[in-house]
Amino acid sequence: MSDNNELSHQQTRAFQPQKLSPPRNFVIPNIIKENKYNAPLIVEIGAGKGKHALSFAEQNPDKHLIAIERTRNKFDAFAKLATAQNALNLDAIHADAIAWIVHAVPANSVAKIFILYPNPEQHNPNQQWLNMPFFEFLLSRLQDDGEVVLATNIEAYMDNAEQQATQIWCLPNTRYKVPSDSQRTHFEVKYLARGETCWELNIHKPKGYKTRFDD
Ligand SMILES: C[S@@+](CC[C@H](N)C(=O)[O-])C[C@H]1O[C@@H](n2cnc3c(N)ncnc32)[C@H](O)[C@@H]1O
Repeated sequence: MSDNNELSHQQTRAFQPQKLSPPRNFVIPNIIKENKYNAPLIVEIGAGKGKHALSFAEQNPDKHLIAIERTRNKFDAFAKLATAQNALNLDAIHADAIAWIVHAVPANSVAKIFILYPNPEQHNPNQQWLNMPFFEFLLSRLQDDGEVVLATNIEAYMDNAEQQATQIWCLPNTRYKVPSDSQRTHFEVKYLARGETCWELNIHKPKGYKTRFDD
């Protein structure tokens, strides 16, 4: 990576993790304290009612998923299904993902982060994930060769995310159209059933990528 690339995101306003208090009833999951089987750690932000999280955990018994949802009623529906599924490789967390990740997730520890159909934040673009200073902190939690998977039905959200990934975060990325029969999340099912195009951006963190939060 060139020095120019490194400077690009390091010239942005830095996120200030020390200003965030731990979420209420905060407990660090066992998988973070002690990952006995060295399972790759996966994080999902904004899991909704957990459709993707539950099937991902079932289909990937060798990986451990931490799926975070902030909205109480969605989380309650998710937690009920997670309890019924009793997957040992899934932690359903009710919290704001930003504060929770700051307090629970060590640097360089996550293999993949899913952000599937985030709130569009069309009137508040500084709340879109790749526009936030927090995104640099999130990247620091990824391991080398880790990946962020972002999906949205809003073309302008995807255009901006792709541009930010390339120009600000200096990360290789690939944009796809989500297949029209994909059914990963409730929102994906709804948008594709309406005949809308859904987009996915796979963002790769190369070896040696530096952030201001690596330690
Ligand atoms: C449009 S919904 C999509 C839900 C699900 N991923 C799906 O595709 O069906 C976006 C979700 O992200 C959650 N969310 C937004 N910001 C969050 C944050 N900072 N921490 C945790 N969840 C968040 C919202 O509560 C909401 O349930």
